[in-house]
Amino acid sequence: MARRKKVYEGKAKILYEGPEPGTYVQYFKDDATAFNAEKRDVIEGKGVLNNRLSEFFMTGLGAIGVPTHFLKRLNMREQLVRQVEIIPLEVIVRNLAAGTLATRLGLEEGSTLPRPIVEFCLKDDKLGDPLVSEEHIFAFGWASQQDLDDMVALALRVNDFMSGLMYGVGIKLVDFKIEIGRVWDGDYQRLIVADEISPDSCRLWDIETGQKLDKDVFRRDLGDLADAYTEVARRLGVLPANATPMTRPTLIN
Ligand code: C5P
Repeated sequence: MARRKKVYEGKAKILYEGPEPGTYVQYFKDDATAFNAEKRDVIEGKGVLNNRLSEFFMTGLGAIGVPTHFLKRLNMREQLVRQVEIIPLEVIVRNLAAGTLATRLGLEEGSTLPRPIVEFCLKDDKLGDPLVSEEHIFAFGWASQQDLDDMVALALRVNDFMSGLMYGVGIKLVDFKIEIGRVWDGDYQRLIVADEISPDSCRLWDIETGQKLDKDVFRRDLGDLADAYTEVARRLGVLPANATPMTRPTLIN
């Protein structure tokens, strides 16, 4: 039997060549990394949860007309996605001050921002994904003005959708990161949401208690990461309401 071809391996996912031209199979690993991979661990079940949650968010985005790379889930850890030309920028949207923004500007964590703020970081692990300005983006040719306008519009639509979804289940969407890719329809290019949307790439706080339900649990040693992600999945109805960490592996298929 022919072995499938690995196209790319990142910290939390692997991309394989897909069954048809223009597709990839995206595999979600259990590996967790933080602080540019200085801290790492394997969290049993994380990949399964992120595969399901990313499917849920991307499907919902598709349903309201936000284009994404998601085609279908294949199994517990894999989904079929469209091949895209990834724009080498991480797009971060922030609703409340936290993380590097709070540190950089000396803001209290959780303080309100005047409006959602969109930031761009260069996707470069060796450099620690540095924050870059529009000047850098245009001067170095990472994206055009039109791309940037489209990226901001996409990111804000994702923010509205995700904020509303989370608010409905008692969770505040503090911030998140997305990656965006180019696809070609004949001579025309379009930008679509790619990579993943999961608690690995969002900050999610319980509205009542402030409890963190995202990767900060791992970054700051605040408890069991898989328990936190299970809680998010349970509230969203992605897992049955009575799902517990003990039953987690058997309930997801
Ligand atoms: O660390 P920082 O505060 O800049 O992160 C902002 C948001 O982007 C957080 O939700 C974080 O999880 C996400 N992020 C990410 N991948 C990165 C950097 C940030 O998912 N490489």
